Amino acid sequence: MKIERPRGTRDFLPEEMEKRRELEKIFREVAELFGYREIQTPTFEHLELFTIKSGEEIIKEIYAFKDKGGRDLALRPELTAPVMRMFVNECSHLPKPLRFYYFSNCFRYERPQKGRYREFWQFGAELIGSNSPEAEAEVILLSYRMLERAGINFELSIGDVNLLRYVLRDIPEKEAAMRLIDKEEFEALKRLLAKYDMVEIYETILQFREIKNVEEAEEVIDYDFSHLKKICEILDELGLRYFVDFTVARGLDYYTGTVFEYYAEGLGAQKQVCGGGSYRLAKLFGGEDVPGTGFAIGFDRVMELFVKSPKYEPPVVVVSLVESKEAFKIAERFRENGVKVVVDVMGRSLKKQMSFANDISAEYAVIIGKKELESGVFSVKDLVTGKQKSVSFEEAVELIKSKGRIDEE
Ligand code: HAM
Repeated sequence: MKIERPRGTRDFLPEEMEKRRELEKIFREVAELFGYREIQTPTFEHLELFTIKSGEEIIKEIYAFKDKGGRDLALRPELTAPVMRMFVNECSHLPKPLRFYYFSNCFRYERPQKGRYREFWQFGAELIGSNSPEAEAEVILLSYRMLERAGINFELSIGDVNLLRYVLRDIPEKEAAMRLIDKEEFEALKRLLAKYDMVEIYETILQFREIKNVEEAEEVIDYDFSHLKKICEILDELGLRYFVDFTVARGLDYYTGTVFEYYAEGLGAQKQVCGGGSYRLAKLFGGEDVPGTGFAIGFDRVMELFVKSPKYEPPVVVVSLVESKEAFKIAERFRENGVKVVVDVMGRSLKKQMSFANDISAEYAVIIGKKELESGVFSVKDLVTGKQKSVSFEEAVELIKSKGRIDEE
């Protein structure tokens, strides 16, 4: 019986994995260039870590379960709460700000569709200890540079949940209203506001949709925009392209100030490739009230658009007619010299080993017979030209590494 993989999960074949590693490498390089250091937290946490802020409602969206000891646990749906738990428990004494990055799988019980999985990966960063305009500008800049280096065409929107909360201050169902704004369900929002006789707020929010920068916002509403202005000043100076968009409400409810989202074309409905903002979670998790700011890039979504695939180089095939332990020794010698090789483990004949080398598009085969073993001379076959030549080990390494061609025998 064939067993299918669970819905919303994926298998990654070597080509895909190699491309993923290439993207991961780019993200790591940029994060480290900004002085961020990698951390890791467990795949599962106490369920409470995620319900403490969001309430029991969140349980239907996550993989929550009881372990054999009856403890309530959950597979992490994201990493900001785990990172802040770790911060409070392990590193609150360290000099601030702390700059962390992570690349980890997350699990959400969502309806699977293109770009939306039940297991997916986030590459994220958290700056802990500040939510000054400078700290926020830095994390925005970092996320921007990461996506830019990956060659993604994106749009960045920056908003402020404080402003939304301020506008919605008299609405009892403020969080529900925020969620409707986040999902752009404006008709439902209008109905909700009408319930409280506050349709004029709806008009203000509609106006927000037209605004593209702080100056325009100042004309619509009397609010202190100095924090956001400072961020914009830094980003403008560095030539970043972005929109100010006060309808960015974010799906998660721990944000306390600046929020931002990146969208990319070509992904269908799930086009948000990154989201982030400032939050205060440390106190909630039993620590001091330390602010944080960060983001997470949806790695799988960026992968859909990432084209810079490294050229896969097939290995050299050591075709052996001698005892396998001798073939293993020779393969090891090549590897010690930085040559990627594979050796037969199927007990195949010379002919079959050669045809395997052709099947995997190897460029070279190194043929080891009794004669070669005794004399220390190697027969290298260039599978591109079809020509073969006897050379010393050093010459073989040199030829293969320099991708030299054998034109005559
Ligand atoms: P989030 O917006 O929920 O934020 O997720 C970040 C990114 O993960 C999204 O922009 C999206 O690209 C990707 N993503 C989310 N759900 C899925 C899914 N089911 N399948 C594939 N990709 C998905 C957070 O998680 C926050 N912790 C970000 C943050 C860090 N805020 C501050 N620090």
